[in-house]
Formats: sequence, structure tokens, C-alpha cells
Amino acid sequence: MTKPISGFSKLTKEEKIDWITTNYTHNKEQSKKILQTYWNQNGRIQQLHDEFIENTITNLYVPQGIAPNFLINDRLYAIPMAIEESSVIAAASKAAKFWLKRGGFKTEILGTEKVGQVHFLFKGDPAKLNSFFTYLKPILLAESASLTTSMQKRGGGITDIALRDKTHDIAHYYQLHATFQTKDAMGANFINSCLEQFAATLKKEAANYTAFSAQGKNVEIVMSILSNYVPNCTVRAMVSCPVEQIQLTDQLTPQQTAEKIIQAIEIAKVEPYRAVTHNKGIMNGIDAVVLATGNDFRAVEAGVHAYACKDGQYRSLTHATIDDGIFKFWIEVPLALGTVGGLTNLHPLVKLNLEILQHPSSEELMQIIAVAGLAQNFAAVSSLVTTGIQKGHMKMHLLNILNQLGADENEKTILVQYFKTNPVTHHGVELQLKEIRK
Ligand code: MEV
Repeated sequence: MTKPISGFSKLTKEEKIDWITTNYTHNKEQSKKILQTYWNQNGRIQQLHDEFIENTITNLYVPQGIAPNFLINDRLYAIPMAIEESSVIAAASKAAKFWLKRGGFKTEILGTEKVGQVHFLFKGDPAKLNSFFTYLKPILLAESASLTTSMQKRGGGITDIALRDKTHDIAHYYQLHATFQTKDAMGANFINSCLEQFAATLKKEAANYTAFSAQGKNVEIVMSILSNYVPNCTVRAMVSCPVEQIQLTDQLTPQQTAEKIIQAIEIAKVEPYRAVTHNKGIMNGIDAVVLATGNDFRAVEAGVHAYACKDGQYRSLTHATIDDGIFKFWIEVPLALGTVGGLTNLHPLVKLNLEILQHPSSEELMQIIAVAGLAQNFAAVSSLVTTGIQKGHMKMHLLNILNQLGADENEKTILVQYFKTNPVTHHGVELQLKEIRK
């Protein structure tokens, strides 16, 4: 059995690779080659990647594509998307083209507030804690002033700090619940630095507050951290057109199609099994742009799914109606994003993607990303209620199957042509490949 290793992070990259391939792979030399194949040829870029994280041994590529023709608030965008799932970019592009001819996407920022909390235990007199907080608040702001100067210059900063009594959930548990504006930064470092300063000030001031008993003076800080739940950092994206323009298939009238789309969304509002898949489709679009723009997709995912069950049940993030003959389809999502700081200034491809998006502010990026999510959902739901999802999905997956089966370029060309008019299944592709190899 492989023994535990100590000091792994201190080894050189070559030593790490040697250790992992010796202890955890069948064919050491071949494994090393695979790892090296994914190194960037440009040593400087590889070094950047090596230094993004600890213990880097290689890079995992995800394909990046472009979904063009997105008309958003009358401006045309080509959206970079990084994703491994074959049909996502094709679906986004199809939805973009559909809505391009129907006035495009309209968006609105509903809020940009970020949140952070200091969680602490207080065992003194609760009434005294309230008066202590009134005394404390200006000191919290004064002692974090050096941290907020440059954010304030950019128009952001701390917008409020509230004391929250959580003792009905856990004995002696209170919070400093703080809200922030972080402009074009995602703001995690700024918020966490402020919170850690709040915690230090709280501890110090409580210890010196004469009205507290000895127990009250001993405030116990549990932790200080931003929240990825940002229900007031949200954006709405919308499309609309006369119902008669919802022509997607010859099998259904536009009215029937629009009604089926609405029905599908109503189901995703009441049935969590469907809602999760429905929202997963939305995240196909959102995550791909979040990743391409160097943002934290885990933060976005966590925040979006929490928002989807803000009323206690997990529900669809999109909505649709027909009002006076107008079909309306929209999404409201929380998105905490940055277009400065983090990877956005460091990763050459992320920088290029932001240039392709016309150097958006974080608010503009929220709007673009919400649109990508809405477009993805429109494409998925309109396929689901008409042809079904597999036809388009398997068509896009065909090249993956052919690559898996080791088809050469000539065989691929022949079979891509063949499957334009035949249903794609793994078995069917295998049979046809055998057939042409005879
Ligand atoms: C697949 O990645 C996403 C879908 O399942 C979304 C949906 O069902 O709405 C097609």
C-alpha cells in the first residue's frame, strides 16, 4: 500500500510528478507524458498556471467556443463560453439567433449588494449587547477605514452593519451582518479583510466595555466570512415577442408551443425533480461564461441554487407568461462577479475574453451572463416540448462517439454526412463504422 507522504508541497514539480505517477498509476512513463502534453509551451504562461494553485502538475483543458449574435439591450455580443458539454454552445447560438430577429434580450440590474458576517457567541446580558452595538458601530467603521479607502474612491464600501440575534437557533449565537458595495470587484478579499477587522474590534471593545459582566466581556468569535448567498445582488434578463412569432416546429402552432413552454416552466416551479434539471440547463450557460471570464463558478452555483429555494422550496429560476398576445420569458438570478482583480488581471485568455465582451463592468457582465442562462433555458425547454432533447444532443455528441471509436478524418466525414438524416445512437455509429470499414 502507498505510504502517506509529508512535505509534498515542498517537492519540485518534477518530484511531485514522479511521486504521483510511481505510486498511483500503472504506467509511469506514459502517465508523465500525458501530464506533460497538457503543459503550456510558453514557459511564462505555464509558470502563471503553476502559481495559481498549490501542487500544480498540469492543466486540465476545457474547450472554449463562441456563441455569436446575442443582441443585449440593442448591443451585439459574441459570448465566449468554456464548457465540455457538446450541445451547449450550439443551443445558446440557436437561441441567440432566434431572439435576434425578435428584438433581442433586455436586462436590468435589480441590486448589487454583497454580504458578510462575523459569527460570535455572547454569554452576557442581551439588553446590554444592544447598547454596546450602538457604541461599537462607529468604531467598527473607523477601524476598518484604512481597508475601505480605495474601494470608497471607486464608489463602493461598507453600506451597513447590523447586529443580529440568532439565539433562537443556537444558544448565545449572534452575528454582525454587514453589507457591501464592491463595484467591479467580486469583492471576496475586500469583504473578508473588513470582517476580520470587525471581529478584532468587537473582541477588543467588548473586553473593555465596563457595563458588561466578566462573561459578557469574553466575546467568542467563531468565524468571519463573506456569504455567497447574495439575494440582493441580482439581475433580470428578458425576451418577449408576439405569440405568433413562437414558431419552432411544424407540429405545433405558435400558440400551442408558447403554452407548452409555459407549462414546462410551471412544472419546474412546483416539482423539485424537474426544477433541478431545469436550472442545471440554465447553469450550463451561466457557468460557461463565468468560467471563461475567470470568475468563481462555485460561488455563483452555491448562490444561485440557494436563491432558487428562497421561499423554502427549490423552484425554476425562469418564468414565462402570455399577456395580451405577447409571450414573455425571463430569469432573475443572483450573480456576484468581478471584472477586475483575481484571475481577470492575470490570465491572458480571461483578459482576451473580457476584451471580446467589450470590457464589461461587473454589472454589464451580470447582464450578459444572465442572458446566457436564459438563452440556454429557452433552447433546452423549446427542444424538450417539441422534438425532445436527444436529437440535437446526440448530433453534437457524434464526434465524441467517433473519436472514442478511433474513426479517422475520412470516416468522420462520411459518417457525419450519414447521420444528418439518421438518428444517432452509440450502437448505430458503431455499426456504420464497421460497415464502411468492410
Ligand atoms: C442538459 O445538460 C441540460 C438539460 O437537461 C436542461 C433541461 O432539461 O432543461 C437539457
